[in-house]
Amino acid sequence: MVIGYGMVGARFIEEVRRRDPNGVRVRLTVLGAEPWPAYNRVLLSTVLAGGLSARSVELHSIGWAARQRVDLRTGVSVSALPGAATEAADPGHLPAATVVCRCNTVTKGAPVTAWRAGATDPGALSRATRAGTGCGSCGDTVRGICAWLAESDPPVLHAVRAEGAA
Ligand SMILES: Cc1cc2nc3c(=O)[nH]c(=O)nc-3n(C[C@H](O)[C@H](O)[C@H](O)COP(=O)(O)OP(=O)(O)OC[C@H]3O[C@@H](n4cnc5c(N)ncnc54)[C@H](O)[C@@H]3O)c2cc1C
Ligand code: FES
Repeated sequence: MVIGYGMVGARFIEEVRRRDPNGVRVRLTVLGAEPWPAYNRVLLSTVLAGGLSARSVELHSIGWAARQRVDLRTGVSVSALPGAATEAADPGHLPAATVVCRCNTVTKGAPVTAWRAGATDPGALSRATRAGTGCGSCGDTVRGICAWLAESDPPVLHAVRAEGAA
């Protein structure tokens, strides 16, 4: 089962079917929240500006999935998986070297350092690290890190530490 029918999900199922064209070894079910076929998201701004049609950036034609023996269900958003751990979604469990913003190759360690230096809201974290200043798709991640830091390392403690050091 593949959750997410975006650029990576689309490419992944193409590759699985390339290796198993008749679907003998791998049954594929794809659940995608968006109601339309996967599309080249990088070209989204060109589509919005009127430079390309929405149809021209679609990665698969209508009927592609059925021809490839893929059970594709669009407009379906997965909210939970039975038995799935919730830890992975918690920024506190991510290693510091995890890339949280792909556009600017910002790792989790950068916002943590910026937070301790006084960047204590999502906007300030973005300005200090450049996370979220590209395509913007990591905005939720930056806000999640901010919420996690607000709880685990509240700014009020920074002041206490600074007083202690003085
Ligand atoms: C305007 C713009 C410009 C960009 N420009 C560049 C660029 O120049 N270079 C570059 O390298 N990258 C660029 N990016 C980033 C690039 O688009 C992403 O890196 C790429 O789309 C990631 O592919 P993905 O499949 O992981 O995620 P996405 O393409 O975001 O696809 C994820 C899919 O999963 C679905 N989904 C999410 N959660 C669930 C759920 N719970 N249940 C079901 N479905 C779910 C989403 O609806 C979405 O369709 C740009 C992005 C944008 C928006
Ligand atoms: S992934 Fe962070 S701005 Fe694009």
